[in-house]
Amino acid sequence: MENLDQLRDDLLGAVAAAEDLTGLDTVRVSALGRKGRITELMKGLGKLDPDARRTAGQDLNQVKTAVADAIEARKQALEDIALEAQLAGDAIDVSLPIRPEEQGLLHPVSQTIDEAIAILGEMGFAVAEGPEIEDDFHNFTALNIPPEHPARQMHDTFYLPEAEDGSRKVLRTHTSPVQIRTMESTEPPIRIIAPGRAYRCDSDMTHTPMFHQVEALAIDKETHFGHLKGCLMDFCSAYFEVDDLPLRFRPSYFPFTEPSAEVDIQCSREGGTLKIGKGDDWLEIGGCGMVHPNVMTACNIDPEEYQGFAFGLGIERMAMLKYGIPDLRTFFESDLRWLKHYGFLPLEVPTLIRGLVP
Ligand code: DAH
Repeated sequence: MENLDQLRDDLLGAVAAAEDLTGLDTVRVSALGRKGRITELMKGLGKLDPDARRTAGQDLNQVKTAVADAIEARKQALEDIALEAQLAGDAIDVSLPIRPEEQGLLHPVSQTIDEAIAILGEMGFAVAEGPEIEDDFHNFTALNIPPEHPARQMHDTFYLPEAEDGSRKVLRTHTSPVQIRTMESTEPPIRIIAPGRAYRCDSDMTHTPMFHQVEALAIDKETHFGHLKGCLMDFCSAYFEVDDLPLRFRPSYFPFTEPSAEVDIQCSREGGTLKIGKGDDWLEIGGCGMVHPNVMTACNIDPEEYQGFAFGLGIERMAMLKYGIPDLRTFFESDLRWLKHYGFLPLEVPTLIRGLVP
């Protein structure tokens, strides 16, 4: 039989020299595998006589155990080394500066709509919606603007191609048709606001063909003009963040309200800067009035039993005034520099009790 001491030294040397798990496995196979050196010797034991077999068997088993233990120990050591190398490779350097990340911002129109919803929502108004492609009835007739009414000319309407029955849909020229749709589908009491897009065929410094309005409608048995004034006063103070912001109601005409008024807020333009809530100048922010009985009747609400108010405000105008944005057209140019300058972080919304809630 082969010199076992020599064999053990050879194999232990090879185990110690194995540099990685694959190398170690090659050593294991060469020693203990099916045709390994120790295995072959084990097979040879059978040819020895019983006495010699016993001693040789014990010696060989010792070598086998020693080699197997050494392989196991080396395997453990190599695994530890591999793990440590992996951990060192994965290490995160927490002192490195963060990668620059683009934070998206809200467009001033979205921000202003969110603010209006937050404030009027606290007063109990729910948000209502309606289609932007409207029929003539909801955009005009039900709002007490019959065909041939001069107010139709003032609306610079975008008409869609004529349908088979000769009717033509329009891009809604204001958010007021949402009043009609809400009254048609809801029993009073009603308190809704309808923020959204409106369209008019008009384009200059102060007009864009698409713009935004927020409409409000309150209908109940005893809702009166005092409620309208109080609601607008509270809203404007909260929105412009000026305590007791003075308002002026100028008598006006809208077909869908009677009486009607235009609403101005107090401002000063001294020195070329606009200051809201100071001075002796006035700035128009929207229209309002008591809902016309004809409008209620068109929606099957009895004007003898119910009454209510409505108002409509221009969103872009509100944003321009509060945030000092000079040119309306820039709102829709999608200039990233403009958006970064005038954009808002999400959740910067004022409440009735004033102040931005972070
Ligand atoms: N619909 C009007 C417009 O677009 C704005 C308006 C005025 C809305 C008076 C109202 C209102 O609800 O009462 O010009």
